[in-house]
Amino acid sequence: MNDIDFYLVVHYPAAINDFREIIMKNFAIPARKFLAALGGLWILGFPALAQEVNLYSARHYESDKTLYALFEKETGIKVNVVSANAPELIERIKREGEATNADLFLTVDGGVLHTARNAGILQPVSSPAILQNVPAALRDRENHWIGITTRARVIVYSRARVRPDALSTYEDLASPKWKGKLVARPSSGLYDQSLLASLIALNGEEKARMWVKGVVANFARPPKGNDRSQAKDIAAGLADVALMNTYYIGQMLNSKDPEEVKAAQEVGLFFPNQKTTGAHQNISGVALTKHARNRENAIRFIEFLTSVPAQERLSADNYEFPTNPKARKHPLLERWGTFRTQDIDFSELSKHNATAIRLFAEGGWK
Ligand SMILES: [Fe+2]
Repeated sequence: MNDIDFYLVVHYPAAINDFREIIMKNFAIPARKFLAALGGLWILGFPALAQEVNLYSARHYESDKTLYALFEKETGIKVNVVSANAPELIERIKREGEATNADLFLTVDGGVLHTARNAGILQPVSSPAILQNVPAALRDRENHWIGITTRARVIVYSRARVRPDALSTYEDLASPKWKGKLVARPSSGLYDQSLLASLIALNGEEKARMWVKGVVANFARPPKGNDRSQAKDIAAGLADVALMNTYYIGQMLNSKDPEEVKAAQEVGLFFPNQKTTGAHQNISGVALTKHARNRENAIRFIEFLTSVPAQERLSADNYEFPTNPKARKHPLLERWGTFRTQDIDFSELSKHNATAIRLFAEGGWK
């Protein structure tokens, strides 16, 4: 390795990654293998370089950066992050194969985690600390992924115009009593795709199809925006009910933007299906990639993420529910109280994703 290479590796690991990517894309297989081996030699030759971990993340929350910095401070292991959406990252890890830079894959959605597992890009972890931190129900059956937080998709409603006792279930949102009173985001969003997938798993495809039709008939406007926009539209008087992930209420109530705070104060949060199938719970998780080069560092990172202090940070900064039962929830989440969640395997979300997308299209939920 010459001085320039050494300088780049030490000071600009990202530049070297880009360089490797260009080489990987353009060289024939034997050359790729040679370069992959060379990559290994770099690490062997410079032990200091091994003190890093490469994370491919599809999470989009500011709070995660604080955690990476904490981990770096605590362990001296540098966290290099590649951000993109989950399907892109899964494709990339698959394409890179043995030469992948990814040690860890981090994403929201249990269905996506299952898809990654099925793509053959993950390997199980067996660290006793991790398995002790996270209950079995919140990790993959063979520990190919580990849940770090959960969230619920709930009904939000106008405090001014809706009495909470008028609310009951997701299914009820398809009732004509909400005609012209419901807003939603476009069905391209994974959150509603997974909600519908869960309804397919619990109620069957036919009932799910009718549910989409009923909800579409109640739209106050064509689907648009993100979760926060739905609360803003309710606050603006455009609609009375919508679906939202719990942590967005926390984010908005504590936002620097006064409009967001006001909107969040004007909506109430309702956990649906408490007397029936439970509220739709989804999960965010982290996984060790099959060809992780910084395996030990990656496992330390998962141990850190599932430890009580990191779990409490995730809840305090991003208003998510910790997966480690020993971690305290943010006081706002405490106030929401305990609630019943759907009793389905997270793999069901992936199993019914294609059907959910089809039912949205057929029902006219754009
Ligand atoms: Fe989100």
